[in-house]
Amino acid sequence: MPKSIPVLCGSIMGEPFSLGVKIHNAAYQALGLDYTFVCFGVDNPELAVQAIRTLGIRGMNVSMPYKQAVMPFLDKIDEAARSIGAVNTINNHNGKLTGYNTDCIGAIRALEEKTNLNGRSLAILGAGGAARAIAFGAKWAGAKVTVFNRSPERGQALADEFGVSFGGSLDDFCADKFSILVNATSAGFRAPDLNPAEGKLSAHLLVMDVAFIPIETKLIRDAQALGCQTINGTRMLVHQACGQIELYTGCSEAPYAVMEQALLEEIGRMSGG
Ligand SMILES: NC(=O)c1ccc[n+]([C@@H]2O[C@H](COP(=O)([O-])OP(=O)(O)OC[C@H]3O[C@@H](n4cnc5c(N)ncnc54)[C@H](OP(=O)(O)O)[C@@H]3O)[C@@H](O)[C@H]2O)c1
Repeated sequence: MPKSIPVLCGSIMGEPFSLGVKIHNAAYQALGLDYTFVCFGVDNPELAVQAIRTLGIRGMNVSMPYKQAVMPFLDKIDEAARSIGAVNTINNHNGKLTGYNTDCIGAIRALEEKTNLNGRSLAILGAGGAARAIAFGAKWAGAKVTVFNRSPERGQALADEFGVSFGGSLDDFCADKFSILVNATSAGFRAPDLNPAEGKLSAHLLVMDVAFIPIETKLIRDAQALGCQTINGTRMLVHQACGQIELYTGCSEAPYAVMEQALLEEIGRMSGG
């Protein structure tokens, strides 16, 4: 099997983005591993997967817009990733490429740091890729999941496919019926004044946002002002990266704290802070 010195990991996406580079390289350094991580902006996902094989790249993260496009070119797809319908992680083990979805793992780890999901009623705003990963994982963890989405057909289709409830548009969300609210829409990402659940929060909710720029979105700030427990999108992001590092290196527990610090520093740098 082709190999490199140092061991090479990376990510493919439409436009290169620095966060994964900072998080992964901080982790490899903390683990004392001779690994390095490079982000590739590519326009051909099939050739990018071929490059993993040709160059012996150990692990490849997959971001927008290729999480579905890479799937036909892999040797195997993990059962959860197949159900979710998206791969964000390609693990090259002795030349065999397996696709995983660590967005799901990251979201569930972040939620379960705060609460046991079993039996809890959980509302998800959104029906895109992130919502699919979270709906799948939350149902698997025993939560009673209801999806709300701007486009009703997409929300209903997700609910039907995963055997969860569809609650209607975002306006139909009513806090009284839920103990957990997860925003999995892209509303709020790089939009510090947009809260997709504006005026609908209540102090009893545990509120998680998947958006991670700004680190504290308007949803999170509004929820905190009411006294809600909150989870920033950065926690899901670091936990999903931990899942990738555990696959690529075989370590049992990725170094969460140094990875989070690297992420927060880089977001601060990008935001001019
Ligand atoms: N923290 C993490 O680890 C992590 C991981 C993955 C993704 N993310 C973030 O998750 C977000 C969603 O990503 P995705 O891959 O799921 O995107 P996607 O597949 O394009 O789905 C976008 C979702 O957001 C909804 N939406 C977009 N703009 C909206 C608005 N102004 N008001 C209400 N709903 C709106 C869409 O509704 P329609 O169906 O009506 O279009 C859809 O449900 C992004 O911000 C991404 O950065 C975070």
